[in-house]
Amino acid sequence: MYSNEIFELIKKVEATRQERVAALPDRPVRMTADEKTELLRKFHPDHIDSEFDLLKIGPNAGEKVPKELARLLQGKSMLLNSKYTKIDLTKTDFETDILIIGGGGAGCAAGIIASEYGAKVTIATKLRIGDANTMMAEGGIQAAVKENDSPATHYLDAFGGGHFAAQADLLKKLVSDGPGAIKWLDELGVMFDKDADGVMITTHGGGTSRKRMHAAADYTGKEIMRTLRDEVQNRGIEVMDYTAAIELLLDEDGKACGAILQNMETGDNLTARAKVVILATGGAGRLHYQGFPTSNHYGATADGLVLAYRAGVPLLYADTFQYHPTGVAYPQQLFGALVTEKVRALGAMLVNIDGEAFVHPLETRDVAAAAVIRECKERRKGIDIGEGSGIWLDSPIIETIKGEGTIERSIPAMMKMFLNYGIDMRKVPVLIYPTLHYQNGGVSISENGETAVPNLLAAGEVVGGIHGRNRLMGNSLLDVIVFGRNAGHTAGAKFVNIKPGNLSLAHVTKFESERAAAGITEATPSPMLLPDYTR
Ligand code: FUM
Repeated sequence: MYSNEIFELIKKVEATRQERVAALPDRPVRMTADEKTELLRKFHPDHIDSEFDLLKIGPNAGEKVPKELARLLQGKSMLLNSKYTKIDLTKTDFETDILIIGGGGAGCAAGIIASEYGAKVTIATKLRIGDANTMMAEGGIQAAVKENDSPATHYLDAFGGGHFAAQADLLKKLVSDGPGAIKWLDELGVMFDKDADGVMITTHGGGTSRKRMHAAADYTGKEIMRTLRDEVQNRGIEVMDYTAAIELLLDEDGKACGAILQNMETGDNLTARAKVVILATGGAGRLHYQGFPTSNHYGATADGLVLAYRAGVPLLYADTFQYHPTGVAYPQQLFGALVTEKVRALGAMLVNIDGEAFVHPLETRDVAAAAVIRECKERRKGIDIGEGSGIWLDSPIIETIKGEGTIERSIPAMMKMFLNYGIDMRKVPVLIYPTLHYQNGGVSISENGETAVPNLLAAGEVVGGIHGRNRLMGNSLLDVIVFGRNAGHTAGAKFVNIKPGNLSLAHVTKFESERAAAGITEATPSPMLLPDYTR
């Protein structure tokens, strides 16, 4: 519920609403390329050099990453902690053909496809299957399926939106396999929004030149995850809930051949042998870079990056992150939760304390987030929310533009989320501020999902390079499906010919020597499996 002071301020938003509607579509204007570059340089968190450290060891030595990530990437293996007994690698606790680490969208998609090759697939996940950022995704999944669209157009939008830094082969795969991914999900039973003739409804997202966003209202990720989880269970794929990976195992030739897993409830370690390992551990929002709140799932702690890095896999663009422009700023209980971009796609505007729409609502996310930060920090036109300030997302304008009932029909979950706190977004604007949303960078892979370590694949948010230095809305759900399936195909096609050698943790010992040689005394055990909010 808003205070009386807030209700007073809302009058200024209401006072300019009709004028702002009348100025559409010419205003708010889009920024020029130079204006965007300048804005990002001054206000995007990726550009605050003091928040980054240079890595001293490992494949990316000399490159910058956020301080919180550097600490973990160069941290001490949990296995070197005296708490754990020495592991006897001549014994294994279980064997499988394909070990998938992570039970979100990418892990499940990989598992479903790999199982079709006759492989024994095991999904180990540190929480429960489906507890992942895929589940948290709201607005939609992009794919060029309409007649006025094409994968080439999708490519151009994503390439520009990512500052021309995407790996060309990966992005090409993403957009080319997009229509097939939607068809696969539709056939598995995802309840996409369709018109009366059964045709998929598609809408715009930030930075898109065509309407190619497919959605299930504003709980698209939940609907996709529900379907994938059902499919994994129906196929009898083995799932180990509450089982985290704390170290990869390589054989004497440096090929991946399993992992040390840890039972999250008992703390016991398990030695798992596999022919192929797929990392699908997701993102890092729970590291709260620069103190930002996050829209991410509780388990998003960069653990996959740590495991891969220690095993010698290079990371790509590990210095770039997505701060979603519209995280909840108020009420406190929802701080950092996602307010889907779909709200802006429906017409909601970003408005300052004076009722001015200061940025086009569908600029790419990095630009919109930087504009919100500038409005609050430099121009002092934010709305005081106690600790810090926020910006109005003028949601009632949606009903003015698109008609009454649009909010309830198109973004029911969002409406309910705010209604739980006495805020009716059909009648009053909501308060937002950027929230840490996505890891643009991550493990470097080839087009078929392979990393620099043989028999170690990766898929989903743990991967870097697909989107370049900024991702467009809806391309992440697409990426977890396209590259999850892709990893499943690669693993399924190769596992029969693989004979793993002896299990080894030599890479962990080597990494520890490198730490010592570089004078790194950081004793933080890594990976970090779950965030610690008690400190
Ligand atoms: O705004 C959103 O609904 C988020 C979508 C995404 O990150 O792709």
